[in-house]
Amino acid sequence: MAKFDFSKRDSFGSKFGVIAAAAGSAVGLGNIWRFPYIAGENGGGAFILVYLLFILAIGIPVMLSEFTIGRSAQRNVFGSFKKLAPRTHWYLIGVLGVVAAFIILSFYSTVASWTMEYIYKAAADAFSGKSSDQLTSMFQGFKGGTFRPIMWQVVFMFLTAWIVVSGVKRGIEKYARILMPVLLLLIIILDVRAVTLAGAQEGLEFLFKPDFSKLNTNSILQALGQAFFSLSIGMGTLVTYGSYINKRENLTNTAISVSAADTIIAILAGVAIFPAVFAFGIEPNAGPDLIFRTLPNIFQQIPGGYFFALLFFILLGVAALTSSISVLEVVVAYFTEELGILRKPATILAAATITALGVLSTMSWGVLKDVSLFNQNIFDLLDFTASSILLPIGGLFIVIFVGWYLGKDYTRKELSSEGLFKVKLINVFILIVKFLAPLAIALVFLNGIGLLKF
Ligand code: TRP
Repeated sequence: MAKFDFSKRDSFGSKFGVIAAAAGSAVGLGNIWRFPYIAGENGGGAFILVYLLFILAIGIPVMLSEFTIGRSAQRNVFGSFKKLAPRTHWYLIGVLGVVAAFIILSFYSTVASWTMEYIYKAAADAFSGKSSDQLTSMFQGFKGGTFRPIMWQVVFMFLTAWIVVSGVKRGIEKYARILMPVLLLLIIILDVRAVTLAGAQEGLEFLFKPDFSKLNTNSILQALGQAFFSLSIGMGTLVTYGSYINKRENLTNTAISVSAADTIIAILAGVAIFPAVFAFGIEPNAGPDLIFRTLPNIFQQIPGGYFFALLFFILLGVAALTSSISVLEVVVAYFTEELGILRKPATILAAATITALGVLSTMSWGVLKDVSLFNQNIFDLLDFTASSILLPIGGLFIVIFVGWYLGKDYTRKELSSEGLFKVKLINVFILIVKFLAPLAIALVFLNGIGLLKF
């Protein structure tokens, strides 16, 4: 097999391109599909406060750590640890990342397939005139089927692979720059309609009025898992993207902008959805089905709803796509750089394997619905394993690596781009990645999985 030529490594072309691509990775189904339903299952307001705290105290430092590792090594996630910590076992974090990529993309593509069907349904004007109950059974009927969900999943994985094959710079950077701002605009329009619905009040209260009695230990773990999932951290996606960032970019500013964009979009998605949830009598803890049952109701109440529904689901699909390529890229960068496989076969191999696992996840709402472990179907198991276990563990070791292995001087040099920028809060950052974040992640994690009880 041919050896990879590192002098020909791809990279991002511009500052805005970096932010758009990284935000493209972060902003996805995690914000619009997952955040509202997880918040809904955990009682709303108080959960969201904990979530925001985790984004600030843990999420941003982990993201910055990933950028630091990737950019200084200029390698895929496995190769980065090999290069920065030769003759050690740190590369195992890279292995974990590649495994997590397979798991995440397999259930992610299930939800993406639902999104694709809803683009089609919106185009076919399938929502209009339907009651809330009819919309619910419409979704459940589709989700429990076999042919259509698999077909859309294959289509989605094909699109993901297609973009990844053509390289990140010319494909995704270009599209992310246009589509991310449009997505923001659309959510704002939906928000305006949602908050003016009769009964919106109750939804907004659910979202913003903290009721701490609704939190339990598991909610805290879920908030951490959601923060990791939404920011795309904990498995090396942003190590990989970081490795494509130019040495002259300011990593700190990039991490803050991307985290802010991601968090704002998640909150705006909550504002779009919860007023409608209450207005149309849907249970906030309806689970993964929540947005697919809720949003079609709102669209019917908007002048030009047909148009907006179509645009919204297309953009949701695009947001999913700009995220899924970032997950696939982790595997492809590993295959090409470490195993010497050419980009095209590497992409096909990765996408095909992931699709195979993904079909099992998709079928766990249909023919495989009785296959379960710990009361969770395959889809839930994959999501739980990745979000609540692998991502926190990955994040834990990533911050430990930066805090203890790379250390302050090395990190300062990378963050300052060799002295180009002033690094103001380096002591705070080092304090967080050395002590605070590892401790917090470890406690939340051990407590959440029940190994430690408070
Ligand atoms: N963050 C994306 C979303 O919110 C999903 C995603 C992309 C992801 N890359 C990731 C999640 C890496 C975890 C790890 O939809």
